[in-house]
Amino acid sequence: MPPKIVVLTGAGISSESGLKTFRDNNGLWENHRVEEVATPDAFKRNPELVYRFYNLRRQQLLSGEVKPNKAHTELALFEKKFQGEFVLVTQNVDNLHERAGSQNVIHMHGELTKIRCVHSGEVFESLLDIDENSICECCQKKGNLRPHIVWFGEIPLFMDEIQKHLSECQLFISVGTSGNVYPAAGFVEIAKSFAAKTVELNMEKTILNSMFDEGYYGPATEVVEKYFARLL
Ligand code: APR
Repeated sequence: MPPKIVVLTGAGISSESGLKTFRDNNGLWENHRVEEVATPDAFKRNPELVYRFYNLRRQQLLSGEVKPNKAHTELALFEKKFQGEFVLVTQNVDNLHERAGSQNVIHMHGELTKIRCVHSGEVFESLLDIDENSICECCQKKGNLRPHIVWFGEIPLFMDEIQKHLSECQLFISVGTSGNVYPAAGFVEIAKSFAAKTVELNMEKTILNSMFDEGYYGPATEVVEKYFARLL
């Protein structure tokens, strides 16, 4: 079997592209508490706010001001050169890994550039704003579309696939994630239990630091390049 590497990324990798992380701003995400915008309850209570919030996030991502940074491009470059299997699992809902050229990306928390029908579960690519009046392509009805985002209290996507990759990898690398949100925060423990080497790349040591065999600290644009250059 060819060697397998699993990389898990979080908001820290996109921070130098101008996207705010979740927990570095007094617990607020773009001026909102998470419960106001990122829960099924919030969507029920105030759909207008939730639609507007994700429309703004999507517009920002597509604005031209937000571009992949060196950390994204280094991961894409490594994937091209690496002889084994490279799996990139991201908690990020932005598309910066794809825009940097990464091929094998698993978006466990959904994607800003996709929307979903709440009835059929069908997922559509969409770069446009949506609201309560948007008509769903599959049922031709208003009010059935929601952002394709995994909110708090919902089950992340592709968990079986990710679990399989974690059990097969020899190296697990976590980049720019604080380790506060499960199940992603538990991936290091799973990989370790299958004898993978575990590495943390982050601005600072996280609460999961003791779980990692090695850690390298600083801005993602610097530590990712240094670490992956050595790995090749
Ligand atoms: N380079 C490297 N690491 C950085 C940088 C940077 N330039 N800037 C910030 N960081 C680190 C922070 O130190 C922190 O440990 O990135 C981490 C970001 O943590 P969070 O804001 O908690 O983001 P994340 O771990 O991705 O959150 C997980 O929580 O709200 C939910 O669904 C949301 O996917 C998200 C999940």
